Amino acid sequence: MKGIILAGGNATRLRPLTWVTNKHLLPIYNKPMIYYPLESMQKAGIEDVLIITGPPHVGAFMNLLKNGSDFGLKLTYEIQQEAGGIAQGIALGESFAEKDKTLVILGDNIFNFNLKPVADEFKKQDKGARVFGTQIPGDAKHYGVIEIDSKGKVVSIEEKPDHPKSNIAQTGIYMYDQRVFDFIKKLKPSARGELEVTDLNNRYVSEGTMECVMLDWWVDSGTSFDELLRANNTIAEKIKNGELS
Ligand code: DAU
Repeated sequence: MKGIILAGGNATRLRPLTWVTNKHLLPIYNKPMIYYPLESMQKAGIEDVLIITGPPHVGAFMNLLKNGSDFGLKLTYEIQQEAGGIAQGIALGESFAEKDKTLVILGDNIFNFNLKPVADEFKKQDKGARVFGTQIPGDAKHYGVIEIDSKGKVVSIEEKPDHPKSNIAQTGIYMYDQRVFDFIKKLKPSARGELEVTDLNNRYVSEGTMECVMLDWWVDSGTSFDELLRANNTIAEKIKNGELS
């Protein structure tokens, strides 16, 4: 299984912090944000990881992360010319994946869930995908929203709906079979002009092969100054009480 971390986008919501650097290089307590998904990849047992980012700061990623050996990983870099959506970014990993399954993590997602048992089980399965959800206290309408039936099967995923059908947010962690790149080729841009990860995931939902795994805690650190602050405070607290290192 290969790993793909998406660290592109323009992060306009975090300006002026992101005028001269990439959002994923900003600090979350004692480390750059990108360290968290890299450590999650390593814990999941992934060896080869592709980092996808935009043209302006790819050199800064390389200066910081080099070949990945500090993380026990082998890193490759790919440039996403413009922020055309998460699914468009994933598509850039096709030749890197070499027909293996993929674990995709969005570079601004922080969590402590060990993905290894799910990855090991997923590797054995013929086809399908996994999405990781988390319960949001209050309104989940700022996220992709996952609806599951009484047996836990995914019924629908809606991108930032006005009227969420559940309070389960779709996190930025996905596992895909080898067909993901063919599915992306068939996607059409959304109203905001992006190839949406939710449209991609719904391909698997409609064939009944999408399963949802729940996380206890998760932070999407890159959406606003408040979320960035919340991520810093949450991680600082978890490091001080020994939950994280
Ligand atoms: O974080 C979870 C949410 O991520 C999900 O609940 C949503 O369903 C999903 O669409 C996504 O929503 P966001 O609005 O948070 O996506 P955002 O545009 O902020 O991008 C998330 C990450 O992906 C961020 O680390 C930058 C990276 N990215 C994004 C785009 C659009 C890229 O690398 N390339 C891109 O073209």
